[in-house]
Amino acid sequence: MSKKAILEVDGKRYEFPVLIGTENEIAIDIKALRGVTNGITTLDPGFKNTSSCESAITFLDGEKGILRYRGYSIEELADKSDFLEVAYLLIFGELPTEEQKLKFHRDIQKTSLVDEDIKKILDGFPKSAHPMGVLSALTSALTAFNPKSVNVESEEDMYRAICKILGKFPVLVAWAYRKEEGLPLAYGDNSLGYVENFIKMMFELPNEEYKMNPVVVDALDKLLILHADHEQNCSTSTVRVVGSSHAGLFASISAGISALWGPLHGGANQAVIEMLEAIKEDGGDYQKYIAKAKDKNDPFRLMGFGHRVYKNFDPRANIIKVAAEEVLADLGIDDPVLDIARGLAKEALSDEYFKSRNLYPNVDFYSGIIYRALGIPVPMFTAMFALGRLPGWIAQWKEMRLRKEPISRPRQLYIGETLRPFKSFEER
Ligand code: CMC
Repeated sequence: MSKKAILEVDGKRYEFPVLIGTENEIAIDIKALRGVTNGITTLDPGFKNTSSCESAITFLDGEKGILRYRGYSIEELADKSDFLEVAYLLIFGELPTEEQKLKFHRDIQKTSLVDEDIKKILDGFPKSAHPMGVLSALTSALTAFNPKSVNVESEEDMYRAICKILGKFPVLVAWAYRKEEGLPLAYGDNSLGYVENFIKMMFELPNEEYKMNPVVVDALDKLLILHADHEQNCSTSTVRVVGSSHAGLFASISAGISALWGPLHGGANQAVIEMLEAIKEDGGDYQKYIAKAKDKNDPFRLMGFGHRVYKNFDPRANIIKVAAEEVLADLGIDDPVLDIARGLAKEALSDEYFKSRNLYPNVDFYSGIIYRALGIPVPMFTAMFALGRLPGWIAQWKEMRLRKEPISRPRQLYIGETLRPFKSFEER
């Protein structure tokens, strides 16, 4: 028998269906609430208790440390798959056959050139501009250069728009980086894999041949896979909300980039390295910072530790820690900041304060270490996160459009003035 939830307001009882997800998650379906109650709404700032949609893309259990894309565990995908394949899985729901993967890659490559006039927009930014602002603006500008991608009337239109953004976005990320570094803008090399091509576009110098390091490719591939989706987080919800007005894929992704930029969301990876650098400047005494983090009179927190959703461990962090160690060993890096990170993590993991509060390193503690080892400047860290999150944003936007979800338009509980007469200047 199907379950029901009973709500009683002012002595009146209302019945609502209870929905059960495939992982036995329970949600009270209140779609009819306003109608049957004559205008009663629910209040849930930050949507902490609200499922904004039904989704078949990503399953996350923060208590058990589970993250799965389309039913596949993040551990298995990071070990056996690659970023392009994971992008296909997220967007289309199944792992691609070899032919499907090749075709997908070719279709992306075919649309990866960026209109030369985009360079003029890039030129208008100061060198000091934050890459996330640049990326958001350029991604939005893609709409003007590809107007047909706005109105997606069929699945074919949608597919074309998806290939275009997957092809052009890595170019924009690389260009944002090269602009900041004062390097000539590079184009891709279609003989390479998706991630390899991105690495070459980022780091290739005009006067020497670029040598690909497979350890670097593997680490970056893993990082991108681990960031590829995280269900209804702030930026993904933004993409769905903006997309629900049928604004088009590129405008929706551009809004998602702006949401990701904030330090409470994607900006945390930048905060970790800034903290490690500050500890180094202060003499490298990480014990002192552990003590500061434990001191309730001190607002300092150990950046890269703890997570709003994961309360036991962050499954992404376990994977990326190994990749970080491999990259450091392979590149022969001896960076004092990285030593501080290792010491800090070791110390905190055996400290009762952190153990008792289930505070573990999160994905951002280690992702910054890899980015730093690769020579990526700190402000670019969040842009790398955006590249990883792109397939998730696309998949969620596509799902929202195909399910024909209504325009997002929350209600509010009005707490302002009631009707009052207008006051002339003399009366104010
Ligand atoms: N350093 C020291 N103490 C901490 C930390 C930390 N990083 N994180 C939590 N605590 C303590 C906190 O003071 C509290 O102690 P008590 O119970 O004695 O009052 C207890 O642990 C529980 O903390 P909370 O603030 O209730 O936990 P939360 O779930 O609200 O916060 C968090 C999660 C991620 C905001 C927090 O752990 C934090 O600020 N971490 C550092 C910032 C960071 O690394 N953020 C990146 C998250 S991963 C990015 C993403 O996936 O979006």
